[in-house]
Amino acid sequence: PAVPRRRFVGLAAGAGVVGLGGTGVGLLFRSADPVVTGGGPAHSSGARQARSVAGLRGPAEPAPGGALRRYTLTARRATVRLASGREIDAWTYDGRLPGPALTATEGDLIEVTLRNSDIQTGVTAHWHGYDVPCGEDGVPDLTQRPVEPGEEFVYRFRADQVGTYWYHTHEASDPAVRKGLYGTLVVTPREGSGARRLDLTLPVHTFAGTVAVGDRDGRTTHTAAPGTEVRLRLVNTDSDPHRLALTGTRFRLAAVDGRDLEQPQQVRDVALRLAAGGRHDLEFVMPDTAVALVLDDDPDTGVLLRPDDAEDEPAIEDTSDWPELDLLRYGTPTRAPFDPDAADRHFTLVLDRALAMVDGRPAYAQTVDGRGHPSIPDLLVAEGDVVRFTVVNRSLETHPWHLHGHPVLVLSRDGRRASGSPLWTDTFDVRPGEVWEVAFRADNPGMWMNHCHNLPHAEQGMMLRVVYD
Ligand code: C2O
Ligand code: CU
Repeated sequence: PAVPRRRFVGLAAGAGVVGLGGTGVGLLFRSADPVVTGGGPAHSSGARQARSVAGLRGPAEPAPGGALRRYTLTARRATVRLASGREIDAWTYDGRLPGPALTATEGDLIEVTLRNSDIQTGVTAHWHGYDVPCGEDGVPDLTQRPVEPGEEFVYRFRADQVGTYWYHTHEASDPAVRKGLYGTLVVTPREGSGARRLDLTLPVHTFAGTVAVGDRDGRTTHTAAPGTEVRLRLVNTDSDPHRLALTGTRFRLAAVDGRDLEQPQQVRDVALRLAAGGRHDLEFVMPDTAVALVLDDDPDTGVLLRPDDAEDEPAIEDTSDWPELDLLRYGTPTRAPFDPDAADRHFTLVLDRALAMVDGRPAYAQTVDGRGHPSIPDLLVAEGDVVRFTVVNRSLETHPWHLHGHPVLVLSRDGRRASGSPLWTDTFDVRPGEVWEVAFRADNPGMWMNHCHNLPHAEQGMMLRVVYD
């Protein structure tokens, strides 16, 4: 394989020791074999995993009135030229950066045949934020074997979740996603609006220091007639957060991580912080002057929308001192569909890092409760449970915490209760020292990854599983 599989052979003694799994084996990372468990009563056996996921596949038919949306994605290496002329040695779906933009209408059946041409680590397609049946989730050695060169795997799931999502490989996710194995997935409601609309899906991705929005680095320009309803769907496919600022107009933050917010207010001159893996949908009506979406306060990176095709360069405002929109206070509060205070399970996850022996040398591992994957015990839940998580960050780095298969409801951040629109997310940034309380309903049986979406951190052990009992 192009990327050597690292073996964690033992653990350093001293202050920052990584706890051992129940059997006391060393940590083994990115194994191509069935998942290695650390033993102990909290773990289920490999044989049982294979059996339980096999039955959890998607339906073969669309919902009544829906269409079949068929896509083929071929993973392969390619040299891709960005808009600036810069060439990227990439790992791609279909030779493109980003991979093909997948779209569907509510009720359709999405069928994606994933082929691997020459990605030696193997590939999968994971539908980030999309609550697919577990067997379609694209997690190597948990829900399927990785697709090796010359192999294929067919995913099927209903487009029953409207909104902005994305897909990426889950095998050797760092470096594979960073090198380009990602694309967007957007599901639109069946009833479209008759209005003049401009709907842009904009993945943000960094290639060796250069930020690209969609398939362009630098700045992209679009024309939109005044009065056009514009929706910008920003997708952070990087491992670090991005700051977004929209200049020249008031706007609404219409959706977070694919889910609509309850009556979002108009705001202006505020920035948004988009967590790694997260999505923000912004809506506004095009004014008769230019609007710019500025990334990371760099006026030369992002999207410029002009009301006409005049030649003159509009001046772009400095956004660097704009405050951040407080999502916990934004939108109109309404009741959540379950009572998080009556949780059936409550887990606390302490995120930190510690020294471990990696390839015979001491190196830092990213840990949960002092252990690294796969020595972290599974969290067991039962179908129907309301599950509460307290996520504590004791480290000096931000950890974008991500759960597969379920949206989580944010209850509080650092003791401050959420008081705006119910905030559903699948990836939330836990900054150094912060404590987040979230809850979800266990309504999607199977085995689900729960991990840091800073993908190097995930590869360094910050990854565990939520398992239905
Ligand atoms: Cu987008 Cu497990 O990841
Ligand atoms: Cu992390």
